[in-house]
Order: sequence, then structure tokens, then C-alpha cells
Amino acid sequence: MVRKTLFCIIALMLMFGASFTVAQDSELSLRALAERDNFYVGAAVYTTHLNDPIHVETLAREFNMLTPEQQAKHCELEARQGQFDFRGFDRLVAFAEEHNMVIHGHALVWHSCTPQWVENGDYTRDEAIGLLRDSIMTIVGRYKGRIPIWDVVNEGITDSGAALRDTPWRRLIGDDYIELAFQFAHEADPDALLFYNDYGTEGMNPKSDAVYDLVSDFVARGIPIHGVGLQSHFTIGGFDANQIARNVERLGELGLQVQFTEVDIRHSGEATDNILQRQAGDYYRLMDVCLANDACTAFITWGVTDKYTWLRGANLGFYNNPSVQPLLFDDNYQPKPAYFAALDSLARKVGETPVLSDDELAAMIGGTAQTVEIPPPVKSNPRQEAPDAVPGVIYYAAFPISITVDGDASDWERIPRGLVDSGPTVPQDNDTTMTFAAVADQTNLYFLAEVTDSQVAYGTHDPATAWYQEDSVEFYLNTTGDLTITSYQPGVAQIGIMAANIDHDNPTSPIIGGGNSSTAQLTAIVVKTDTGYLIEASVPLTTDVWTIEPKQAAVLGFQVHLNGSRTPDADRDTKLIWSLLDTLDQSYSNPSLFGRLFFWNKNL
Ligand code: XIL
Repeated sequence: MVRKTLFCIIALMLMFGASFTVAQDSELSLRALAERDNFYVGAAVYTTHLNDPIHVETLAREFNMLTPEQQAKHCELEARQGQFDFRGFDRLVAFAEEHNMVIHGHALVWHSCTPQWVENGDYTRDEAIGLLRDSIMTIVGRYKGRIPIWDVVNEGITDSGAALRDTPWRRLIGDDYIELAFQFAHEADPDALLFYNDYGTEGMNPKSDAVYDLVSDFVARGIPIHGVGLQSHFTIGGFDANQIARNVERLGELGLQVQFTEVDIRHSGEATDNILQRQAGDYYRLMDVCLANDACTAFITWGVTDKYTWLRGANLGFYNNPSVQPLLFDDNYQPKPAYFAALDSLARKVGETPVLSDDELAAMIGGTAQTVEIPPPVKSNPRQEAPDAVPGVIYYAAFPISITVDGDASDWERIPRGLVDSGPTVPQDNDTTMTFAAVADQTNLYFLAEVTDSQVAYGTHDPATAWYQEDSVEFYLNTTGDLTITSYQPGVAQIGIMAANIDHDNPTSPIIGGGNSSTAQLTAIVVKTDTGYLIEASVPLTTDVWTIEPKQAAVLGFQVHLNGSRTPDADRDTKLIWSLLDTLDQSYSNPSLFGRLFFWNKNL
């Protein structure tokens, strides 16, 4: 019987890297490079930040655009009707002028910062239109000729994209409050570029379609609009650069500018080196999308230093990470990998010597995307219970098949093997390789590892802290159904099985290590063989943290590693890895690098 290919092509991004250092050339700055390309690199700033000398120095050195983070919003400027307080805003404008920076005004109309007197006001539509006009004429008019860009309306569309957001001005005026705001801003300063700004509208989705429809309609009807701001508050790994490029392109085709107006890239937990590298890769990709299209004229980060990021604000309980580091400069104003990534993207764009080596860059952004063709499942030997594994990509696990976990591999006879013979650390005279296999019955998932190794070395490291420094095999499972997750959560486990179990005679409590390994309820037997050692193991299909259902073509994230040490009291000198995605030994922290295990019904 001919079977359909489960899927034909998987795009594999080879990613992630080790830490690096780059000496900073004192001449080099984001700003200096941007200015060679008529481009703007901006940052959101509070007036209070101007009291901090290092902040001032960093801001003026690195940025040529400044967005008032709070002080240009309507609720700040006109808390009481007709009584304007421009002190903070004036200070920011003066600073920008003194340092030759462009102000990106933000934001004339925003539901989260609309004065109380508007919110609670009981005005007729005509009265409200008059009030909106007065406010905009006063604010934009005051800085006429000095503020070349304004976010006129911020976040005017619902998250689903299905409707305009219910906002105070909309309640008073109706749906046309948006175009009226643009018309008033244009009247106040005909030379200012007027932007519609929003979040969740960066890529291609119903909300960005709604923005596109709104602004296309304005363009078609001659309502003065010149650009769209894409806020770009992201989580690491949380955007698709190609989709953002498509959105920038379609907006550009309307004759509009695009700016990335509030960029920050957050993460959960502490900012490890790995997290900062991945964040850098994301900054590079995002900057690159902007620089690749002339319609994109500015890249603005929502702050300069992690120390002052709004994401640490107590009122942002939903992010709940006081140690988040989402920006280009750390708490001490030191440039982070993300800074060098952004700088490198700019340097390459303007034809300047790259700041990062190709290897450093590849470590951050994953080098070139590689497409792997997945062949249709084939049994090279008709007696096999499942198709051949696709090296480093797919293992087909036959079911239902029961195995006795006893250290005797004879019950695995007709099960195809995967091969693990390469990885990031392979000694020149390496003699270690491994084959593995997996099957399931109605109650357990079973693993087999057969390791060839002339020097099985174990028993010298503390299993609690250094289990992976001596001979051991790691099976990884992601049972969550989401193979794209980039951090560990319940249902993901790294199960490191030590060769030391050779001398351990309790299979139901083997010596293991690894992230969430204890949740896997592993049974394992390890025996010495003529050529190395052999592991037979099983985990229940149902535990407190997962339910695995072997069904035809059901998929799990799956990975296999081998750690080898040849001198018993030295640390690991060999690291072999199965999944092609994990070039740099990051599976212990990032499940998206696992390969796949497809269940295969042997009776079909
Ligand atoms: C935020 C500021 O960063 C905070 O300090 C302030 O308390 C609230 O506003 N989208 C926007 C910005 O358009 O204006 C918001 O700025 C962040 C979300």
C-alpha cells in the first residue's frame, strides 16, 4: 500500500551560539551608521532619564531619534481642559535639538492616556470634535516645524482586528474620530508626517489587515496620512521576519513610511547567555527587515537601558519578570549582544566593515536557513516494523510493540535504528558512536541505546551536578504538542541515563539527570557489552505531566545525545547529537531544537 508522505519539507533553521566579545570601536555607533543611510535609530525617553549623565551620553551617542515615552501624550499635556503643561515635553524637545536628534511625537490620541475630562465628558458630537481640534491644534501647533513626525492615533483597532476599539473619543464622535484627528494634525502642521501606530500588527494577520484597510482607505480618500508605526513589543522567537517584511512591503506600496516604533524583545526568567544570544539574533533579523525596504525609515527601541524598561513596571503584572532585559544596553549601559547585532546589521547595510564575524553572526541568527527534503517513509527491509529513520530529523517509532526492560536487546530485532555519530565535540580519534530505537505499547514508550565505546568511563562525577560529564545517553521528549516552544515546561523532559547504572541494580530508580528528568518516571537497565554499553529504558505513557497517545502519525519532539569521557576522572570530551537543529548543544534549554518522533502503527 502506498502511504502519503507525512510532510514533505521542513525548513530547519540552524541557530544559536556561544557567547562572544567584540571590542567596541569608539567611532562606531548606531547613530553614525544610520546617518550614512538617511536612517533613524531612536529610543523612548522620560524627562527623568535626562538627569542621569550616562543615560544622556549613551542616548546622544547612539541615537538620532527620540520618542517621548510618556510626556507627549494627551493626558500628560492637558490633564485639565485648556490648561496645558508643556514643561516635560519642552525639555525633551530642547534636548533633541541640542543633540541634533529628531523627535517622533507620541501620541495625540490614545485610549490609555486620554484626559479624564474627555473620558467623563458629556459633549455633543460637534462639541467633542471642537475639543479634539483645539487640543491637537495647540499641541502640534506649538512645535510646528520642529517635530517632523507624529503618532496621531495609537492602538485604535481591537486585538481581533474585527472593529475599531471602543475609545473615549470614538464614543463621543463616532468612527470618524480617527480621520478627524489626522486632518486636525495636518492643519496644525502641514509638513509633519502623520502616523497610525499599533501593536500586534507587525506581521500578516487579521489585525494588520485591519490597519492596512484603514490606511488604504485614508490614502484613497486623501486623508493626510504618511506612515504606519509597528510597535514591535516582542518575545524572543515571537515573530516571523518574513511576514513582517511582507507587511512592510504592502504598506510601502501604498506610498506610506513604516517605522518600528517601540521595539523591545522580552524573555521569561533570568537573561542567560543563551537568551541574550537569541535576543541578539532577533534584533538582527528585525533591523534587517527594516533596512531591507526603503519604506522603513526608523528603528526605535522602547528605552535605552534595561534598567528603565517599562516591562519592569509594577503595573505590568502580566509579564511578571522583574529581571527582564529587553533592550540594547544592560542595566549598566553596557552594550549587549543585541546591540552588536543591530550595529552589525546597519554596518553591513551601509557597506561598512561588519562588526561581527560571520561565525559570531551565524551563532546569533543561525546562519542560512536550510531546507531539508523529507523522503516518503520507506522500509528498506520489508521485515521492519517501521520505516527507516530520516537522519537527524525523524524517527518512526513502531507500535504496538512490547519490550522487556532487562538489558537483552533481542526483542528489538525488527526495529529500525537511528544513528548518532556526529556533534559539536568530537575528538580526532573518536571511536564512539551510538544507535538508538524507540517503540511503544499501550502503557509505555521504550528506548534502546547501543553505544560503541572502547573506554566506558563512569563513577567519578557527582550524579546530582555533573552527571553529563561522564559516559551517558540523553533522551529528550517534548509531549506538549507544541514543537516550537523555546523553553522547558511540564511535558518536556531531558532524560540523562548514566553508564554508572551498569553497577546499579534498581531499574525503577536509575541514576539519571537532566531538566524535568524526574517527572518522566524512568525505568532503565544499563549493561556492558563487548563493544561498549547498552541501555534499555521505558517511561509510562501517562504520568502527572503528560499523556502520550501512540496513534499513526502522532508526533513528539524527540532528541538523543551522547556524552563521552575517556579518562574516568576527567570531564566529558565527546558530545554527539542526533537532531540536525541542535548544532551547539542547546537542547537542554530549548525544546524547539529537538527532532521528531512519529508513531507508526505496525499493523497498517
Ligand atoms: C508606556 C510607557 O512605557 C509607560 O512608562 C507608561 O506608564 C505607559 O505607557 N504602547 C505604547 C506606549 O504605545 O505609549 C506605551 O508606553 C507602551 C505600549
